[in-house]
Amino acid sequence: MLELSQLAAQIRACQRCRLAQTRGRAVPGEGPEHAPILLIGEAPGMNEDRQGRPFVGRSGDLLEALLASIGLRRGDVFIANGVKCRPPENRDPLPDEIAACRPYLERQIELLRPRVVITLGRIAMARYFPGQSISRIHGQIQWVEGVGYVPMFHPAAALRNPPWMAALREDFARLAPLVAELYPGRTGEPLASPADEAAQLSLF
Ligand code: URA
Repeated sequence: MLELSQLAAQIRACQRCRLAQTRGRAVPGEGPEHAPILLIGEAPGMNEDRQGRPFVGRSGDLLEALLASIGLRRGDVFIANGVKCRPPENRDPLPDEIAACRPYLERQIELLRPRVVITLGRIAMARYFPGQSISRIHGQIQWVEGVGYVPMFHPAAALRNPPWMAALREDFARLAPLVAELYPGRTGEPLASPADEAAQLSLF
C-alpha cells in the first residue's frame, strides 16, 4: 500500500525528537499490508538500529519461534514498535519521545486495520491498558469494536526470566484457534520443520 511505504519514508527521515540525533536508522516496521495480526514492541535495539528492521536480534529469533509455535511465519504478521528510533543505551523511551512517535503508529494502525493487536512489554501495553499490571493481565484478550487486544510479556524480558518465558509461550499457544480463524487454510498447529524445532530448543 502506497501510504504505508510513504509513511515509512517519513519515519526514516523523522526529526521530531532527540532520538533522531543518536539513532543509526529509524525502524518503521514491516509486514504485509493486510496482516490480520499486528505486533507492537517497545523500541529498536542495537541490531534493529543497524539494520532498520524490527526484531532482528535475539528477541526477534524468539518472536519467530513463538510465531512458528502457532503456525505463523514472520511474514504473516506486521511487526512495529511504539517508538521508531533506538533510545541511547537501550534506556526506556521517555514520555515525550513516545508522544512524538505516537502519530506514526496511529496512522499505521489506521492503514493496516488489524483484527488482533499484540502488545509486547509494559510500555507497548500502557497505550491500551494504562495503569494495569502486565503480570496480572498478560494473555487476556480484550475485544474493542471487533479488534482483539492482547498484552504479552516482552520477548527480551522473557529471555531473562524463565517464568515469563513459560507465560509468553502459553499466551501464544492460546492464540492458535484465532490463527485458524484469521488465516484461511491455517490450523494454528506448530510449524514442524527441523530448523524451527532447533531454533525453539535453543531459545525456550
Ligand atoms: N525490542 C523491541 O521492542 N523492538 C524491537 O524492534 C527489537 C527489540
